[in-house]
Amino acid sequence: MAVLNDLRTLWNLVMHRTRGATHQERLDSFYSGQATGYDDFRRRMLHGRQEMIQSVPFPEGGVWVDLGAGTGENAEHLGENLARLGHMYQVDLSTSLLEQATKRVEHRGWTNVTPVCHDATTYVPPEGAADVVTFSYSLTMIPDWFRAVDQAYAMLKPGGTIGIVDFYVARKYPAVGRKQHAWSTRSFWPLWFASDNVFLSGDHVPYLQNKFETVQLEERRGKIPYLPLVRVPHYIFIGRKPAA
Ligand SMILES: C[S@@+](CC[C@H](N)C(=O)[O-])C[C@H]1O[C@@H](n2cnc3c(N)ncnc32)[C@H](O)[C@@H]1O
Repeated sequence: MAVLNDLRTLWNLVMHRTRGATHQERLDSFYSGQATGYDDFRRRMLHGRQEMIQSVPFPEGGVWVDLGAGTGENAEHLGENLARLGHMYQVDLSTSLLEQATKRVEHRGWTNVTPVCHDATTYVPPEGAADVVTFSYSLTMIPDWFRAVDQAYAMLKPGGTIGIVDFYVARKYPAVGRKQHAWSTRSFWPLWFASDNVFLSGDHVPYLQNKFETVQLEERRGKIPYLPLVRVPHYIFIGRKPAA
């Protein structure tokens, strides 16, 4: 069963041609065939999500907005502390992944978690502001990722926290202290992921560091299922919106 799920996911990742006139249609075309097998496959590919969530200080009674939340698995990573939150909003544009998120919320009986179909670049929670905003492997799929970061900044309360984990490649000339990547890494991975409309960039981290106070920055590499010899770079960024 697990192998069949993997095969279906791999077929969609490698062979399926994404169609659609809008970003939302393209996301649904990409995800509709792999939504049920999404979590199992991505657990072996999207590294650092649990660590990112567990590095974030969630205030008791606070509001958490997860932008590009997919199936909503990040809520699981908060464990029992989820119950201490005021509310979590799982924002995504893919209706097939949100369906999985909704099933999870119902199954878990979470009363303070709401999946929301909305564009991350314009979303504002009903409370008007958030204590924590996270993106896990979603910025690389949001064409106007800089708008999504600006929106996160705008909705965060002063002193609020942003947490991000995503694939990336280093700039050719990274800032002092940052990791360098060989030409082959900087060339191959953006090309490989672009076929699935995932756009790796060397600009995310500098943009984030320019907007937020850096609390933590890790640059690592992780495995990809069925590709034993290679490791894709990813970063974990925890930042704070300066207090007013
Ligand atoms: C690789 S998935 C990551 C999902 C989830 N955060 C995780 O860690 O498994 C990227 C997600 O970003 C969502 N996404 C892409 N563009 C978006 C946008 N403009 N607004 C909201 N969600 C978006 C996709 O639908 C998808 O669920």
